[in-house]
Amino acid sequence: MKKLFIKTYGCQMNVYDSARMADLLAPLGYAPGSGPDDADMVILNTCHIREKAAEKVYSELGRLRQLKLARAAQGKPMLIAVAGCVAQAEGEEILARQPAVDVVVGPQSYHRLPQMLAEISRGAGHVLETEFPAEEKFDNLPGDGAVTGPAAFLTVQEGCDKFCTFCVVPYTRGAEFSRPAAQIIEEAQRLARAGVRELTLLGQNVNAYCGEGPDGSDWSLARLIYRLAEIDGIARLRFTTSHPRDMREDLIAAFGELPQLMPYLHLPVQSGSDRVLEAMNRKHSADDYRELVARIRSRRADLALSSDFIVGFPGEDDADFEATLALVRDVGYAQAYSFKYSPRPGTPASVAHRQVPEDVKKARLEHLQNLLSTQQEAFNASCLGKSFPVLFEKPGRKPQQGVGRSPYLQPVHVDGAARLIGQVRSVRICEVLPNSLRGELVDASVAEVSP
Ligand code: SAH
Ligand code: SF4
Ligand code: F3S
Repeated sequence: MKKLFIKTYGCQMNVYDSARMADLLAPLGYAPGSGPDDADMVILNTCHIREKAAEKVYSELGRLRQLKLARAAQGKPMLIAVAGCVAQAEGEEILARQPAVDVVVGPQSYHRLPQMLAEISRGAGHVLETEFPAEEKFDNLPGDGAVTGPAAFLTVQEGCDKFCTFCVVPYTRGAEFSRPAAQIIEEAQRLARAGVRELTLLGQNVNAYCGEGPDGSDWSLARLIYRLAEIDGIARLRFTTSHPRDMREDLIAAFGELPQLMPYLHLPVQSGSDRVLEAMNRKHSADDYRELVARIRSRRADLALSSDFIVGFPGEDDADFEATLALVRDVGYAQAYSFKYSPRPGTPASVAHRQVPEDVKKARLEHLQNLLSTQQEAFNASCLGKSFPVLFEKPGRKPQQGVGRSPYLQPVHVDGAARLIGQVRSVRICEVLPNSLRGELVDASVAEVSP
């Protein structure tokens, strides 16, 4: 067997794609290896969202080039492939900056990897593939790979038509495309048969999902979720990432009606200033977002929220930033990601006047992150003494310990739970640690609880 090492950057969709690439290359004799050192092929599955993410790829490629030369000296070849959003955005430029790269393949073209490797073995030199629609990708990627645990990702939608003025995704992932429901149901059934209990449905704009249903009508994300909840063995469902504009009534209602749908929602708002939201082309106001959150919480009082924020968007002044802090205080987040605005080539905001100086961005980020950490700590502390269902995913560091996830995605350690992997059990939280919770089984003797 040849060894394959895939290093994944960026979002969960890249994690899903990396697993599909591994599945695709298995029949060609590639088995997953543990690192780049002894790999016959290394794939960097890259992210272009911020400058830092993209630049990391080139430093990693520099290191891989050294490894490739060292291996060549021992008569062993090593193929280097760049996949993902940097591949899509920069294409040929990657080959020019790092000639040790053999393959450049965009996110819509992974199913072409075997042919591309065949071309290389016929002496083609570099190969590059960044065309092809997402439709073809999902029809041709194997969905029958190894399952790595009771929680799995399933991409249902790809691409974005929103064109937020700061964002590269519409350019790297292309137009919105929803997979047909039947294809998704089949993949979910297979995962359930292999022991998967929790599915996280993925899409850059997952709640914009509008796929062909088995009856020929268009299915919304809610409709798909209700159908997936019927599959034997699927105890929990999640979806990410959602856009506030696409939060439809049927999806909001599902939070109140469907116990399998976890009461945790990643709903990025980016900013709390109407002026900035407009310049970002988000097409909703801060109050629209507040009202939306209130509507979802009216269906599901224990809903916890997470978000993404950008500070230092061009033109953002102190009052705009204060408005973001005010929104954070009003909503209250269990968890959140926040970033300094990073100008991305080809996006409208990157050429806007009034770019915010780096030191101002840095100070605002620190301020916002302090507030968000305080909220996260308060949320975790509020879990003390409560009982909720935990899906046990893997053994812990201590003997017999099991680690699972709460409905709110917090890791929960429970002594004596190693035998419960793959099961959902009621757990009482007895300690709040910096990055996790510790709990005890509510009743070690009872059978599985419903979610
Ligand atoms: N589809 C998702 C976001 C995908 S990108 C959505 O609409 O919310 C993930 C996050 O990266 C974004 O939510 C945003 O907060 C951040 N991001 C995107 N482009 C950025 C940029 N140019 N600079 C800084 N952060 C950025
Ligand atoms: Fe990017 Fe906006 Fe699309 Fe999200 S909705 S992927 S932030 S363009
Ligand atoms: Fe990054 Fe592409 Fe995902 S830019 S965040 S890997 S869609």
